[in-house]
Amino acid sequence: MKLLFIGDVFGKAGRQLVQRKLEDLQREFLPDFVIANGENLADGKGLTEKTARPLFEAGVDVLTGGNHLWDRQDSLEYIRENPRIVKPMNYPEETPGSMFYTLSKGELSLTVINLCGQIYMPSCDSPFIAFEKHLPGFSTATKCIFLDFHAESTAEKRAMGWFTDGKISALIGTHTHIQTADEEILPEGTAYLTDVGMTGAHDSVIGVKKSIIVEKLRTSIPRRYEASDRGLQINAVYLELDNYTGRTSLIKRIRQAVEK
Ligand SMILES: [Fe+2]
Ligand SMILES: [Fe+2]
Repeated sequence: MKLLFIGDVFGKAGRQLVQRKLEDLQREFLPDFVIANGENLADGKGLTEKTARPLFEAGVDVLTGGNHLWDRQDSLEYIRENPRIVKPMNYPEETPGSMFYTLSKGELSLTVINLCGQIYMPSCDSPFIAFEKHLPGFSTATKCIFLDFHAESTAEKRAMGWFTDGKISALIGTHTHIQTADEEILPEGTAYLTDVGMTGAHDSVIGVKKSIIVEKLRTSIPRRYEASDRGLQINAVYLELDNYTGRTSLIKRIRQAVEK
């Protein structure tokens, strides 16, 4: 099974990149399934029907979440009603979003899960305990399991990698918006990458116009954030999985600059 995972799609610039370039990526990598992190679709904060639908139409099969998933109050119902939007499973059951989603195509099937870290992040339950608790439920349909671990701390991500090795096919980190160069396949067959990076405008501070963030940090005066539209990049990862064992045989980082 071939998978493509696109890192945090940020605002209009990120959405347009996916709409423009997913077809090229599909031609190059021939993925069976495409997953993208969607917590920043709406101007960097949350996800709406208007911002998510074009991505599904472009060929994204599942959108994963993170701490920003519910920033848009007017979209909670849309998230609740769309099973292809997967929320971090260590958030309350009542919080909108699927606990997991299983994609099927012919003989292939893949379960997508999402967890948030606890270190330097808004409060949530232990991702380790949540994983353990829900493992019997999300691992019944298939051995091929993809985890988007949305966390700030490298140590927490690394620990989760060792904790899940051999239990899932891949743990790919999100949230920092900066791609790391530490991809590997752990001894029991789980692919690991600390952070896949952001898809959107990289001439920015993690997606936001750089002058706004520099001024905010210089003066400590809160400023209204505006998404940047410069320095476009697709940050993603390509994976090849054994359909029967769920082990990953190949992980390849993708970091493509795109002309405006
Ligand atoms: Fe993000
Ligand atoms: Fe985040």
